[in-house]
Amino acid sequence: AIDISKLRKDSGLVSLDYGYTNTGSTKSQITFVDGEKGILRYRGYNIEDLAAYTTFPETAWLLIYGNLPTREELGTFRRLLTENALIHENLLNFFREMPPSAHPMGILGAVVNALGLFTPRFYDDESKQDAFNLTVASLISKVRTIAAFSYKASIGEPFVYPDAEKSYCSNFLNMMFSSKAKPYNVDPLFVHALNVLLIVHADHEQNCSTSTVRMVGSSQASLYASICAGICALWGPLHGGANQAALETLMNIHQSGLTVKQVIEKAKNKKDPFKLYGFGHRVYKNYDPRAKVLKGLVHTIFDREHIADPLLDIASELEEAALNDDYFIERKLYPNVDFYSGILYHAMEIPTNMLTVMFAIGRLPGWIAHWKEMHDDPLSKINRPRQIYTGYAERPWLPIDNRG
Ligand code: ACO
Repeated sequence: AIDISKLRKDSGLVSLDYGYTNTGSTKSQITFVDGEKGILRYRGYNIEDLAAYTTFPETAWLLIYGNLPTREELGTFRRLLTENALIHENLLNFFREMPPSAHPMGILGAVVNALGLFTPRFYDDESKQDAFNLTVASLISKVRTIAAFSYKASIGEPFVYPDAEKSYCSNFLNMMFSSKAKPYNVDPLFVHALNVLLIVHADHEQNCSTSTVRMVGSSQASLYASICAGICALWGPLHGGANQAALETLMNIHQSGLTVKQVIEKAKNKKDPFKLYGFGHRVYKNYDPRAKVLKGLVHTIFDREHIADPLLDIASELEEAALNDDYFIERKLYPNVDFYSGILYHAMEIPTNMLTVMFAIGRLPGWIAHWKEMHDDPLSKINRPRQIYTGYAERPWLPIDNRG
């Protein structure tokens, strides 16, 4: 076996790997991805099984604690989720004072960071494990409340408080859409869809935001600060922000009347770069298994509910054209998780600028699981990559009058 601790001390050799395409930053037992075969497993369980048979809280528990919860464990977790759904009244000022145009991802990051200021650091607590469990449930529960409140604030409606009788996903939809003016009955089919959406987003090993959570956490920053950093990393359009960008692309195609063929040609034109968001992945060189699950779900729901959305027709046509185009074939560019998620959220009437927030709610258990794994690993050190310096060699000092 390789003695990693010895290897680490043997510095001197620095590898240069832009974007860390081939650099492993850690060992991990949480999520397995085979990008060539299109396989994704959390703690050994296939994503297709988890999406079909579990709820989001069950999957969250699995990721964080390593095993599927027993009935008793799940009961306790659900109770903690219910008991910790509210946020401190002072935090409501964040929603009220932000400009109406503020992006909900910015609000989410700010409020999650502030949430940490209202909560003691659990590793200062004597009963560390209990305090950690409480923090986990509290974060997972409150993030959903924050997301729904930021939406209500953006449309100028009063907040709808969490309902202790409702499940995790049903509660979220109720907080988003119920109002005094209009009664809202949570549709069980949408509750099911939301569960699946959150589950397929729950972890994806060392992606940009998770690596950020680990990077920030490696300095022993708090869980809240680390998660806030992960939210900021997720926001970018090359990562989680791609779901908003992908849906907007479909809407633009619909409105502009561009043909799918024209869009494919635009995506291939290197002189006038145009990204086809929702296609391509650093690791998947085969169909993204999450996209496969979501594609099946879209068709099931739309067929059953007789929903006719032109965006789905455009997406299907686009996929078909890309999968048969040499440019996409050579580069192994398949639809990724962000391609079909937007269409499902659109059907639930979740607005476009909330899509990346939805991704963050789903990814939270993965971020927590990685933060915990790193925290518990005796080999963990502060993350500190090296560089290859390409600037000036030593230069003589120049007084200000001699410069320019
Ligand atoms: N549309 C058109 N061309 C693309 C696309 C795309 N969506 N994605 C990659 N390519 C092309 C690149 O231009 C490049 O072409 P070249 O070899 O001729 O220069 C080649 O495919 C390889 O792409 P890279 O950007 O080098 O691949 P990388 O692994 O660095 O990036 C990424 C992966 C960021 C996901 C990329 O495919 C992309 O930008 N996709 C669109 C954004 C997106 O959907 N992101 C979500 C990813 S999933 C997630 O984060 C949850």
